[in-house]
Amino acid sequence: MSFQKQFDHYRQATETAIESMLPPAATRPARIHQAMRYSMEAGGKRLRPVLLLASHAWLKGKNDATAAAVAIECIHTYSLIHDDLPSLDNSDLRRGHPTCHKAFDESTALLAGDALLTYAFLLLGTRYAAQPDIAQQLVSILARAAGSQELIGGQMEDILCETEPCTKERLAFIHTNKTAALLTASIQMGFVLANATAEQLIRAKQLGQHIGLSFQIVDDILDATSDAQTLGKPVAQDQQNNKATAVSLYGIDAAKQAVAKHTDAAIILCEKIGCDNGFMIDFIRYLENRIA
Ligand code: IPE
Ligand code: IPE
Ligand code: MG
Ligand code: MG
Ligand code: MG
Repeated sequence: MSFQKQFDHYRQATETAIESMLPPAATRPARIHQAMRYSMEAGGKRLRPVLLLASHAWLKGKNDATAAAVAIECIHTYSLIHDDLPSLDNSDLRRGHPTCHKAFDESTALLAGDALLTYAFLLLGTRYAAQPDIAQQLVSILARAAGSQELIGGQMEDILCETEPCTKERLAFIHTNKTAALLTASIQMGFVLANATAEQLIRAKQLGQHIGLSFQIVDDILDATSDAQTLGKPVAQDQQNNKATAVSLYGIDAAKQAVAKHTDAAIILCEKIGCDNGFMIDFIRYLENRIA
């Protein structure tokens, strides 16, 4: 199957699972469930669920990984809803639509984010209850990645660096945590569902790190070079918010070189993991060259 067809297959599986696994919009209080679905169903590239499903398939896993894929997209979407709030990046457009706090209001957006964060763990706890060992590992991986020492820690330093000096080391901390942590967790969760060995899990972490750094550097480059129509979110926001980014610290050319370096490192790791790694290598190349 071609890369694009396989990607569309994973993406469609994710869309179907999101539709069926989130509480119906009419569930009381309807406003919160409408807001959760509004942001979850607004589109988005679904990279983390695709990465999770593809990682599971890579090691020939036999579990149903779709609930874990929805769980990680719930965490990602919550992080975007909160990232866009006026007190963080103050953004009006996301996934080509008004942000949650614009379509609803700030209180509802705050609560919709909270609810998606919690719902991710309910999904893992209930859908994998028959395999407690796997459920425990999935919960631990996701909670660690989303927590104060990873995703939230990265977001905290991202905000601090709007008003404090940022070194290259500090920027690496921000990228590693606000972005690479969840992409790494996607691979690790797919691997855990496929009963990976300890060595494969170590490689998954290294792979996620390189994919994540490359991904965030591209995000920083696109903010400086693309347009809102293509991206589905505002551009030139980083400069406006005085963010420390790969572009502000390194410049576009050096940032592009860093993307190439992380892409190469990620592909080498795919080769070390071996098995049927074709989709993953194509996926990494797609991320390197993406325009949205
Ligand atoms: C945006 O992530 C936030 C970053 C980590 C840069 P995506 O670019 O994956 O956003 P969606 O899910 O496609 O909207
Ligand atoms: C956001 O990074 C990362 C998280 C939401 C955790 P950005 O602030 O750069 O993401 P965009 O550019 O708004 O999508
Ligand atoms: Mg941000
Ligand atoms: Mg932002
Ligand atoms: Mg950005």
